[in-house]
Amino acid sequence: MKSFHDHNKATAKGTGTLWHGRDPAIPLSKNNHLLRWVEKMAHLTQPATIHWVDGSQDEYDTLCAQMVEAGIFLKLNEKLWPGCFYARSDPSDVARLEDRTFICSLSKEAAGPTNNWEDPFKMRRRLKELFDGSMRGRTMYVLPFSMGPVGSPMSQIGVQLTDSPYVVVSTRIMARIGLPVFAEIDKGEKRVVPCMHTVGAPLAPGQKDVPWPCNKEKYIVHFPETREIWSFGSGYGGNALLGKKCFALRIASNIARDEGWMAEHMLILGVEDPQGQKTYVTAAFPSACGKTNFAMLIPPAGFEGWKVWTVGDDIAWLKPDAENRLRAINPEAGFFGVAPGTSARTNPNAMATLSRNTIFTNVALTPEGGVWWEGMTDEPPAECLDWQGNRWTPEIAKQTGAKAAHPNARFTAPASQCPTIDPAWEDPMGVPISAIIFGGRRASTMPLVYQAFNWSAGVYMGATAGSEMTAAAAGTIGKVRRDPMAMLPFCGYHMGDYFRHWIRMQRALSETPSIFHVNWFRKDSKGEFMWPGFSQNMRVLKWIVDRARGRALGKETPIGWMPRYEDITWSGLDFPRERFEALQACDRNTWRAEVLGHEELFIELHDRLPPEMVYERELLICRL
Ligand code: OXD
Ligand code: MN
Repeated sequence: MKSFHDHNKATAKGTGTLWHGRDPAIPLSKNNHLLRWVEKMAHLTQPATIHWVDGSQDEYDTLCAQMVEAGIFLKLNEKLWPGCFYARSDPSDVARLEDRTFICSLSKEAAGPTNNWEDPFKMRRRLKELFDGSMRGRTMYVLPFSMGPVGSPMSQIGVQLTDSPYVVVSTRIMARIGLPVFAEIDKGEKRVVPCMHTVGAPLAPGQKDVPWPCNKEKYIVHFPETREIWSFGSGYGGNALLGKKCFALRIASNIARDEGWMAEHMLILGVEDPQGQKTYVTAAFPSACGKTNFAMLIPPAGFEGWKVWTVGDDIAWLKPDAENRLRAINPEAGFFGVAPGTSARTNPNAMATLSRNTIFTNVALTPEGGVWWEGMTDEPPAECLDWQGNRWTPEIAKQTGAKAAHPNARFTAPASQCPTIDPAWEDPMGVPISAIIFGGRRASTMPLVYQAFNWSAGVYMGATAGSEMTAAAAGTIGKVRRDPMAMLPFCGYHMGDYFRHWIRMQRALSETPSIFHVNWFRKDSKGEFMWPGFSQNMRVLKWIVDRARGRALGKETPIGWMPRYEDITWSGLDFPRERFEALQACDRNTWRAEVLGHEELFIELHDRLPPEMVYERELLICRL
């Protein structure tokens, strides 16, 4: 075991052990703050070695090969899945953990009632205990990352210290990492967000490692005032890839509030019309409501000459430009998508994106060395190994209900491989946003599409958005969980202040984007979906774009502007007028109950709710 003195030596001068022609312990940055922090954290966590991540392909390949050797990764059949790797997590470490996620602001009030708060001083003491010696026997990687293109004025920088090589290679797909980021840090112009991460499974000398080390106890902690992230015990997704939910949403929402921009749980896409004019929109849907599918939509028959371009599928940072127009970047560089349900039918662009250079976690493994998940093909494989390595056959599934892939199994794939990736997706200035769409999974009440009367009505629309809980049986009305702007698990401060910030943004804009609400999931009295969804959503998207451009009509209703049957382009789809009218129906009694439902969340947020939310609610009640 190395002493602190050895660490100092390792950090400052290297260990002399060469790794692909370089000593990875030699720092790749000259920034004194960073050097001192790395030393301090090495002293706390006591790793066996330190590895400064340069971000090269060579380094990525070597780390993957090391993980294959260690049994963490399996290399998939190169002919079927070139450049792809397969990992199985520990069965206890399969998803984001909202109840283990903490916002440790100085005051409880600043975090608000929708976040778990803990006293920051108490939490720091607890984290010190947890991280003490937590990396023993492991390598601590110094992983610099840029959320957004390196050097963009809209980007933010972080450095994650982690003892998980899986996190390092996944972050190389999900963000920009390595030498160009160290060069940015060395300029000293941007604040760097420190992100501490350990799987919390130190190794004693000679102790054999397991394929997916983690700890039963888990903490995902944010200190919004000091812009710090500390994550203990998990190696999975948003718990461990700290640039994603922790930084790009929870910490970034705090930075954005202070600096006058917005960090949102939104996809970004561009619609190109047959004349070549492009209109960009963002859309906020809760997790697992089809953001990735919508971002990669392929227009259906009848929409020849139209094209949808993908900018991002999960997170958008929106900022007014010099002309006070709202522009957006996707801070990520990859897609961390839910695999089950993704197929050549539902999302051919996603399938093409993940066909190579992708890391699969918790999907099933076929005998040919390929991957499979529920919904990927109509015919399941005759046999495979499930996400825990047990033999799985369709017969076993029928008898026991066992899933081949975990429902939250994921692919981690480079965005650059998406066939519809927008040529401007890495534009450092972002793309101009003309419309914002909110949505959720609602079996009743919510029409297919409607438009808010104005910005404050649109903020109310987003603030009261909800989604049915998944356990709702077909045809029954599920309990609606209010998920304001799809940010309930991701807003890093008081939700009432967040609404106020949204309202305030209008004053910074010369032109406000139009705001819409969509619902692909309305059901009829037999429990059948009323709308075919997927590529047919293009019909709705076209109306939205045409409205935003001032070239489509709509009719006024108590809840907002709605398309009439003749305002939607129907070529290529036989969809009767009566069905459309049922789909768009806004029933006053149902809506009265809906407005009462809005009150549930508003009561909780009452003392910080901006007055506009109260007035909008009153106006809506009056109109109903
Ligand atoms: C989510 C995700 O859970 O994007 O929202 O992973
Ligand atoms: Mn998400």
